[in-house]
Amino acid sequence: GGAVLLDTYGRTATDLRVSLTDRCNLRCTYCMPEEGLDWLKKSTLLTDDEIVRLVRIAVTRLGVREVRFTGGEPLLRPGLVSIVARCAALDPRPELSLTTNGIGLEKVAPALRDAGLDRVNVSLDTVDPETFHRLTRRRRHGDVLRGLAAAHDAGLTPVKVNSVLMRGINDDQAPDLLAWAMEHGYELRFIEQMPLDAQHGWTRREMVTAEKILTSLRSRWTLTPEPDGERGAAPAERWLVDGGPHRVGVIGSVTRPFCGACDRTRLTADGQVRNCLFAREETDLRGALRAEAGDADGRVATDGEGAQPAAEAEAAGDERVAELWRAAMWGKKAGSGI
Ligand code: GTP
Ligand code: 5AD
Ligand code: SF4
Repeated sequence: GGAVLLDTYGRTATDLRVSLTDRCNLRCTYCMPEEGLDWLKKSTLLTDDEIVRLVRIAVTRLGVREVRFTGGEPLLRPGLVSIVARCAALDPRPELSLTTNGIGLEKVAPALRDAGLDRVNVSLDTVDPETFHRLTRRRRHGDVLRGLAAAHDAGLTPVKVNSVLMRGINDDQAPDLLAWAMEHGYELRFIEQMPLDAQHGWTRREMVTAEKILTSLRSRWTLTPEPDGERGAAPAERWLVDGGPHRVGVIGSVTRPFCGACDRTRLTADGQVRNCLFAREETDLRGALRAEAGDADGRVATDGEGAQPAAEAEAAGDERVAELWRAAMWGKKAGSGI
């Protein structure tokens, strides 16, 4: 692979998160309004081929070792299994994971495993079907539970569960969630609600803090910081429950930020590079890829003086896209030798 550059903060990007669609079949109140979002048009979405090419560029030229597929809801993407299979065939092979709401996972978990998916994180905020309906505006609690069980059975482990607590809705359910997760062998992580909802309804005052979550769990268990629990670049801080072996994590995005250690780069479903959930700045890799594709066609078709063999032209195109991506991640100093 190519040289891995350090950014101005001395960080590398080893973790890539790829959104496969902005659509979702739930309507979590902390995420989107009842009517959904202004969905991206099909023509602006990256194609399966474009996704695989960008992942290939990331693993061969940027030093990415872990690729996570997200959404919206990634299981809504028709080509998911084949995208996973093609990414698993890359050299070096990245670790592959999926963050999903679990709806439809029951059916597709074995195929995903066979395609090379390593593990899944499933979002579930409550063990109660009625609370689930209040939070997501949909009656799909049973689908999620069956999806989780199927993922576990298929060996997509460790299966992690992400829970967001909402004041007055499910903030009293942290201990129930942990008891349930331990019983089923899932690793539970609580996530502080972040100001990411399309409706801009977030307030700091309403947010259930990591501190409150820990206090609530300590009413039932003894929590000790995980030994060798180097948080590193991971967003979750982890605790042993009653001395282990079960663990629980808290992702304190708001009150215990971890941005300084962040080693991630993100691709939106329409092919924009974004370096942070909160970043407004984007770099258009889709446009760059499509321009490259047009150029490559031209070069191959010309077949005269100066025409490049297709593979060579493709590699050169990959490098130009990688250069743009590095600049997006690491700013002006990319390539300046630091
Ligand atoms: P693993 O622990 O490796 O399984 O991955 P993960 O926790 O990063 O993945 P997941 O997609 O399950 O993310 C869980 C939550 O972590 C997200 O909903 C966010 O709240 C938070 N998170 C993940 N990445 C970032 C990030 O780059 N910045 C911030 N602020 N939060 C993040
Ligand atoms: N704050 C915190 N977590 C959120 N998620 C979605 N919106 C928010 C938010 N505003 C979580 C989902 C899922 C993960 C990918 O992001 O619950 O677990
Ligand atoms: Fe869908 Fe996830 Fe948003 Fe819920 S939080 S509406 S599951 S994308």
